[in-house]
Amino acid sequence: MLVAENLIKTFPGVRALDGATLRVSPGSVHALLGENGAGKSTLVKVLTGVYQPDGGRITLDGDDLRLTGPMDAQAAGIGVVHQERNLIPAFSVAENISLHHLPHRRGVVDRARMRAEARRCLGLLEVELDPDAPVATLSPAQGQLVEIAKALSLENRVLLLDEPTASLTGDEADHLYAVVRRLRDSGRAVVLVSHKLEEVFAVADTLTVLRDGRSVASGEALAGFSQSRVVDLMVGRAYEQVELARREVNAEAVPALRLADVATAHGHRDVSLEVRPGEILGLYGLVGAGRSELAKAILGLGRITAGTVEVHGKPARIATVGEALRRYRLGYVTEDRKDEGLFLDQQVTRNIAVTVWRRLARLGLVPDRAERRLALDFVGKLDIRISTPRQVAGQLSGGNQQKVSLAKWLAADCDILIVDEPTVGIDVRTKAAFHELIAGLAADGLALLLISSDLPETVALADRIAVMSDLRIAGVLDNDHDYPRMSRQIIRMIHAETHAEAA
Ligand SMILES: Nc1ncnc2c1ncn2[C@@H]1O[C@H](COP(=O)(O)OP(=O)(O)OP(=O)(O)O)[C@@H](O)[C@H]1O
Ligand SMILES: [Mg+2]
Repeated sequence: MLVAENLIKTFPGVRALDGATLRVSPGSVHALLGENGAGKSTLVKVLTGVYQPDGGRITLDGDDLRLTGPMDAQAAGIGVVHQERNLIPAFSVAENISLHHLPHRRGVVDRARMRAEARRCLGLLEVELDPDAPVATLSPAQGQLVEIAKALSLENRVLLLDEPTASLTGDEADHLYAVVRRLRDSGRAVVLVSHKLEEVFAVADTLTVLRDGRSVASGEALAGFSQSRVVDLMVGRAYEQVELARREVNAEAVPALRLADVATAHGHRDVSLEVRPGEILGLYGLVGAGRSELAKAILGLGRITAGTVEVHGKPARIATVGEALRRYRLGYVTEDRKDEGLFLDQQVTRNIAVTVWRRLARLGLVPDRAERRLALDFVGKLDIRISTPRQVAGQLSGGNQQKVSLAKWLAADCDILIVDEPTVGIDVRTKAAFHELIAGLAADGLALLLISSDLPETVALADRIAVMSDLRIAGVLDNDHDYPRMSRQIIRMIHAETHAEAA
């Protein structure tokens, strides 16, 4: 149905697509896979008229397709959810969903029909949101759901989804995939880009693997591949994940970060937690359990109404993220890195070094050169794909942007680091490299509070796991790294808590 052949797309200093080929059949879900920077989003943008290719050919039902802009793709029945958000914050949910096809009645916008359309599309995803709510007031996950609803609003024949579940919970992703299966069964084609390989393998029928802008597999049935074979193709050689070295945590040490009976304006009650130097404390819970809000309250971005926060045994009152870093050497990697984390028009190296700038200057170093040296060290460690050291962050692929905001905090030389969903959107190999880096920092004495909805990641990295449910700590478990057993215990704990509430 949709065929792209030998696509070429060059940006200054990098050939993002170098002969990429993609063949998608009607009634199928096609996985588009590859490491961070492989060219997936560029291909999606060429197929939706955002970028003009420098070479190659696109056909739809055998006819040449010339896309001079996004409207052409829409007219051809090709819908898309881009990796980055494209909503207009000041507009309402309903206005965003119907943005390009506002219903009119007697020359004015028919707001009732617009609202009904928003409810219908959100209903497909089993999402309840006020159609009149301004998009600026939504959480990252809600924003992502509105983007998807918008793409579902038109009766598209082809739907391209670029990392659609990056900020969604398991349940929300399940609803999306139920819709995807219905679309497939009605003869549409869906192209899915995702680093969550379990999801990909559960829903996709066929696959294309991109490496350095080239297709190293295209159109084959997914059933013929194992997950590890796909990873090998992405990476370009046999890839084996290394086991993390075990660490010993000194249980007697004064906690680096301690919360005692903390309550917040957000509604947290009786939250008590300790993270010791050299320890990784996992904070696991379902989305909405209040983990990110707790982190924000600690950092002064939310209000603490009772209890105490201590850093290295002394009461701490933190007002801003900057103060946390300067006075307490406490760093915070937010969940919403794309919006909060980066200066997109600044060089990658500047972004990484921004947290250490004062230190570099104080040491009397030429900031520019010292900054670059420090930053390039992390560029290497996290394999951040830049074409020149002067490249600006906004030109990196989505996953590479995330690596930059992680590197920034790793470079900051903190004593305590709170990281919120650190590996969402990051490819398998870099994820493993990041886990090693994190474990290494802990081995050097850093105290880490790891907020993650990725249970395998939590069990792999954490020394102890605190389970949060409904704004309280349901319990804290010692992690024996036995995944089946740990996950059973954690799930049981979350359920016990919910049942108690109901009773
Ligand atoms: N507007 C741009 N200007 C310059 N370079 C760009 C631009 N957009 C993408 N690139 C480069 O093209 C290459 C491919 O990027 P792309 O975003 O397609 O990767 P991706 O496969 O989607 O990766 P990810 O999994 O991280 O989202 C990268 O090297 C990236 O830096
Ligand atoms: Mg991408």
